[in-house]
Amino acid sequence: MTQASTQQKRTALITGASSGIGLEFAVILARQGFDLVLVARSRTSLAALAERLREEHAVRVDVFACDLSSTATADRLFHELLEQNITIDVLINDAGFAMQGPFVDNDESNLVDMLQVNIVALTQLTRAFLPGMVKRGHGRILNLASIGSFMPGPLMASYFASKAYVLSLSEALANELRGTGVTVTALCPGPTRTKFAQRARLSDTKAFRGTLMEASDVAREGFEAMMKGKTVLITGFKMRMQMFPTPLVPRRLLAMFARQYHETTGARGEGADAARRWTPAADEPQASQIAH
Ligand SMILES: NC(=O)c1ccc[n+]([C@@H]2O[C@H](COP(=O)([O-])OP(=O)(O)OC[C@H]3O[C@@H](n4cnc5c(N)ncnc54)[C@H](OP(=O)(O)O)[C@@H]3O)[C@@H](O)[C@H]2O)c1
Repeated sequence: MTQASTQQKRTALITGASSGIGLEFAVILARQGFDLVLVARSRTSLAALAERLREEHAVRVDVFACDLSSTATADRLFHELLEQNITIDVLINDAGFAMQGPFVDNDESNLVDMLQVNIVALTQLTRAFLPGMVKRGHGRILNLASIGSFMPGPLMASYFASKAYVLSLSEALANELRGTGVTVTALCPGPTRTKFAQRARLSDTKAFRGTLMEASDVAREGFEAMMKGKTVLITGFKMRMQMFPTPLVPRRLLAMFARQYHETTGARGEGADAARRWTPAADEPQASQIAH
């Protein structure tokens, strides 16, 4: 399903396109000639990226500045695109965030927002755009999972659990969709240099003090896996080797191992909730609307 092979415009919707891995996906897809629908809360960042991609690659870029922690957003986005006759051929569910700290201390409202963005919005968008793809006989969906999908994650308990859901859903859908021309890929990065760690107060953990992958490399590997219709990809050769024995290791030991990577001084000490709510900068309005 390449631009060259069909000589027809294709459109990709990317959530989480304002920074990190999602932004790099937008750059790659624009380079490949895809028109884009970019989704995130930070309107200013999305608008700047859209401007750049239109200039550099002569593609159409629509911006949808919205908060995916609202259950109504996915439906509104789907219907706005329908009204504008924009057909989605590629869906990249990248938006997501994490919380660090003991579950007992996690801020409840932040926790619910995280589950809404990481799980519910991803599921709603997949459910909304999949029928059209199946009907047309082609489509690609890529969901951002994590190496955390493969193990319990003490001190990031609900984040790891949310990514286990993403992996499980993606693998099951990939199976259900065999022969339809639509594929689903779960992309599983390890620690990657983006705003993710800083936003989740993870910068001072063993996981993020070690070697980090670059977001552009993660997106490139993910794009290639998605276009090949691969079901699961752990990014980076080194991480694939590190994760190789995981299925053989007792999950109790995996939990002990993962915990070491998520401890900060704060998490060991008073048990204060280290993950504070992160919101876009004040100069970045959050009202939902498509801008051309
Ligand atoms: N970086 C890592 O080490 C790592 C490892 C494994 C998996 N991942 C996954 O990779 C994905 C991308 O993260 P990243 O590393 O690129 O981090 P990032 O730079 O923080 O990007 C996260 C993206 O999600 C968007 N987002 C967050 N909350 C949102 C909300 N409520 N509504 C709409 N958009 C929202 C952010 O945009 P706004 O803030 O503008 O809304 C941003 O574009 C996430 O799903 C993450 O779980 C990351």
